[in-house]
Amino acid sequence: MSDHYAVIGSPIGHSKSPLIHGAFATATNQDLEYTAIEAPLDGFAAAVHAFRANGGRGLNVTAPFKLQAFELATDKLERAQLAGAANALKFERDRIFADNFDGVGLVNDIQRNLSVALKGKRVLLLGAGGAARGALLPFLAERPAELAIANRTVEKAQELARAVGAGSRIVGCGYRDIAGSFDIIVNATSASLKGELPPIAPDVFATDALAYELVYGKGLTPFLRLAQNAGVKRLADGVGMLVEQAAEAFAWWRGVRPQTRTLIDKLTVSLT
Ligand code: ATR
Repeated sequence: MSDHYAVIGSPIGHSKSPLIHGAFATATNQDLEYTAIEAPLDGFAAAVHAFRANGGRGLNVTAPFKLQAFELATDKLERAQLAGAANALKFERDRIFADNFDGVGLVNDIQRNLSVALKGKRVLLLGAGGAARGALLPFLAERPAELAIANRTVEKAQELARAVGAGSRIVGCGYRDIAGSFDIIVNATSASLKGELPPIAPDVFATDALAYELVYGKGLTPFLRLAQNAGVKRLADGVGMLVEQAAEAFAWWRGVRPQTRTLIDKLTVSLT
């Protein structure tokens, strides 16, 4: 019998994970089955336990269950701990391991696919929710010159900067207090999902900046449009991050890392 994996969320109908992991399995000759599970909002733990009881080996976790997945785990890896959220689970005997590959997926997309190094750069992260938290440790590991976290609720940004505690390289502030211009600006707020825009000034974008929108498949979001109007040439949405985090989870489960380029090209929606 094939090993069974799945993505779990609510709703789950539009998830690209079955397509992505199916393609990875074919490309790496792994014998596995990958499905999508829509769990009831009050039934996440029961759905996970049922999946395990039927021999399930691992899950990708998406909204709104990333916090519950973290809580359910017996063994929480460091990135998941800082994020307070898990996007992947692995089942081994009586253990449930939790990790969070969103941040490393984002870093891989920026550095490998978009060929923009983080080292020595000024990086601005917009938002201080789950998505931003997941990105923090993987970003800092690449040693940017500065990492600023700006958030509507200022205390959340400040708290996050303190929690990481990496000294002067990281600051938390409100949108009005953003100082200077940045080389890499990542919109990790959920504003774009509502067609909204964090109130940032166009001069946060340095010449030659990369503007990265975590939301994917929505074309030019208000954030990307602001960047484009400010003269930014390098615009990206989160499709590369989606595929890269999936590749990390796949490697964690199966011990083999699939190629991502072809799939990213296939899933990319034009940003014009
Ligand atoms: P996610 O898991 O997607 O990060 P979240 O944890 O609910 O979701 O966090 C949402 C983030 O988007 C927060 O940083 C939120 O700001 P607040 O902490 O001040 O609520 C931010 N956000 C949502 N809508 C926004 C908007 N219209 N403008 C600016 N920031 C917004």
